[in-house]
Amino acid sequence: MIVGVIGQGTMGAGIAQVAAQNNCKIFAMDANENMLQQAKNNLQKTLSKLVEKQKITDVQKLEIENNITYVNNIEALATCDIVIEAIVENIEVKKKVFTQLENCVSEHCILASNTSSLSITSIAASCTNSARVIGIHFFNPAPLMALVEIIPAIQTAETTTNKALQIINGWGKITVIAKDTPGFIVNRIARPFYSEAIRILDEGVAAKEIIDMAMCNVGFKMGPFALMDMIGHDVNYVVTETVWKEMFYDPRYKPSHTQKRLLEAGWLGKKSGRGFYNYAADA
Ligand code: NAI
Repeated sequence: MIVGVIGQGTMGAGIAQVAAQNNCKIFAMDANENMLQQAKNNLQKTLSKLVEKQKITDVQKLEIENNITYVNNIEALATCDIVIEAIVENIEVKKKVFTQLENCVSEHCILASNTSSLSITSIAASCTNSARVIGIHFFNPAPLMALVEIIPAIQTAETTTNKALQIINGWGKITVIAKDTPGFIVNRIARPFYSEAIRILDEGVAAKEIIDMAMCNVGFKMGPFALMDMIGHDVNYVVTETVWKEMFYDPRYKPSHTQKRLLEAGWLGKKSGRGFYNYAADA
């Protein structure tokens, strides 16, 4: 199977790795050459670690790497059976990319978005054949997280949903179908996890390190602040804002100025070296 992945940031690179590990041929596309190089370098590092741990062999590492072709233009996705978009969380940019994409690929190609919160129905409306558009939402980091939400838009054909389920289940993931509503299942439930943590911080109830430590010791793998830094505040803030607006400004989902300021400062978390925490080598 030939898979296209648009965007080679945090999620796109992870999705390309998952597909490549499942013997697909991938065209990994990004508009930014630096991101392509970074994705390639990171994949090599990740796979080398897997070789060290004897989880894969040197030959398998090479096969996985050879399964991915890095490209900088959307036309290179022409032969794909499925394309998964993982670019910036902005509805207008995504719609433009889908309109463009539809003109490059064959009629049978499934067009999927990895959006965390945007309306799949609205993205599908940017295509002439909206029946083949669907949400396929991986979690971060995509190679490690088992769950994938499958979100049919109201226009999505049942055959598209079934094909998407077949592909993603075939990659060893656990799929759940969710209705096309803001945040779907997991991101909707996760909103109060982040926003209540920020409220607790703002009220001076406890320091972020203490809040993170408390949550880890009650069973969460990561505390809310470390997790927001890992996701990236550009993505996490926008998702919160989208869910809030799309829920008709329900105050339960209201975003916070504390996180908005991080975004404005460019303190995006791990990816920029600073967020709630400082990731500089000398920090
Ligand atoms: P990111 O910022 O790490 O990567 C986005 C990539 O898209 C960048 O490399 C950028 O150069 C590229 N890009 C932007 N516009 C483009 C265009 N028009 N054409 C081609 N490439 C373009 O973002 P991240 O975190 O990977 O998020 C991507 C999507 O996945 C978003 O929709 C986000 O909501 C979703 N998502 C993010 C998760 C996370 O934890 N970060 C988890 C699950 C979903």
